[in-house]
Amino acid sequence: MEATTFVLFGATGDLAKRKIYPALYNLFVDQKMPQSFSVIGLGRRELSDEAFRANVERSLREFSRREAHDPVVMKNFLSAFRYNVLDVSRKEDYRKLRQLIEQQEEKLRMVPNRLFYLSVGPEFFETIAANIHESGLGSANGWKRLVIEKPFGHDLQSARDLNANLSKAFTEDEIFRIDHYLGKPMVQKLEVLQQSNPVLQALWDNRHIANVQITANEIVGVEERAGYYDHVGAVRDMFQNHMLQLLMMLTIQLPNNSTSEDVRFKKKLVMDSLEPLQKEDVRSHVVRGQYEAGMIQGKPVAGYTSEPNIPAASQNDTFIAAKLQIDDYFWRGVPFYIRTGKRMKDKSTRIVIEFKEPIMQSKGTDDNKTPNLLVFEISPNEGISLQLNTRDPLHKGEFKPMHIDFHEREDNVPEAYENLIFDALHGDSTFFAHWDEVELSWQWVQPILDAYEENLVPLHLYEAGTYGPAESDALLAQDGYHWWFDD
Ligand code: BG6
Repeated sequence: MEATTFVLFGATGDLAKRKIYPALYNLFVDQKMPQSFSVIGLGRRELSDEAFRANVERSLREFSRREAHDPVVMKNFLSAFRYNVLDVSRKEDYRKLRQLIEQQEEKLRMVPNRLFYLSVGPEFFETIAANIHESGLGSANGWKRLVIEKPFGHDLQSARDLNANLSKAFTEDEIFRIDHYLGKPMVQKLEVLQQSNPVLQALWDNRHIANVQITANEIVGVEERAGYYDHVGAVRDMFQNHMLQLLMMLTIQLPNNSTSEDVRFKKKLVMDSLEPLQKEDVRSHVVRGQYEAGMIQGKPVAGYTSEPNIPAASQNDTFIAAKLQIDDYFWRGVPFYIRTGKRMKDKSTRIVIEFKEPIMQSKGTDDNKTPNLLVFEISPNEGISLQLNTRDPLHKGEFKPMHIDFHEREDNVPEAYENLIFDALHGDSTFFAHWDEVELSWQWVQPILDAYEENLVPLHLYEAGTYGPAESDALLAQDGYHWWFDD
């Protein structure tokens, strides 16, 4: 892999500590880092290189997947780390940073390939990108890449503005937008499962599939993020990005040996085919919820509006369920039900594919037959299961469901950030959010934002520790379906 300088903005922040340093370290231990690399940590605080390295080491001991005890490995890894104080809006600081990077590159005889990782609030993205550009940091003789993480805008217009500004400093091919759901191993497998299994390929359309259910339940509430979350809600925090990405990754029809361009193009096709919602229809297609006090795993938890720093009259959504339709040859007529919420009964992200009844009815009592289900468990456990019908040996003429379960061994599977950082270092954007799909996702979601804003959609309260408001069940019941695995 080519030599790289990893320039990390927000080096003393939480994401760096929990995710980025452990990911770099694990890649290093697995010999997946470039032979020559250096990490320049940037932050507002004054910090010596030694103190910075000690912080990094502490975070590895706490959060790394791989053991962080071998002193030689640790020393080699940390020797690549330097720290530099930087105020994101001071042009002078970027000039100094450029000198430091150039010195390092010269010392290590490295080609000036630079990956700028912005682990900072989105309000700083544009300033930093512009300063990288103006200071010449981005005009060296190697490649440059920009890694940013959602939120990419607050609505359609702000996302477009952000993108227009970033585009002044980086081309689309140089921008790597992290959606960490795309780094989850099972999500990365969806593509391959579909491409390499004729059994799945043959059934992957509206002739065989009755409906698809995509769920991301969380146990946690708003945590310490009131200031952020109360302005975004579930629709912006999870739905516009993670949930729609899951929908895209499941439904794209890829050629064999597809490239990242194919993935980008096919995702755009899916988003283009998504039947648009009108503001007036949001009420009948979307359920907006907010959690009330309740019990989770035997412990009482407060309602959303009693959480610290949340206004008592907040109408913010902590749950969303929606019905979507893809109007293309493969999926026309198949409802996709998507839901996500905080303070739910359990933590589970999964996709359930419910198949249609067989065309030829078999002999016997059909009443106790259950539909065939194909389930992708994405997290916290990773697995695939299939529900089939078989004959019940105890009750003649009756059926009973049979389950075929496969669970991935959990230990030592690379984490989402490892996969994504590895790909960004290689310049492979397959599992990143591309601008086309980000824009189309905002475009699809915008009527929901408008309808919420104008209070056209009721806010349904749900008890913490449940699966959301009853209206979410009704959304499926009107089509003759129900959410699977709510028990
Ligand atoms: C983040 C959201 O993007 O994803 C959080 O901002 C949410 O609110 C988190 O808790 C969920 O991620 P995961 O990987 O735990 O499902």
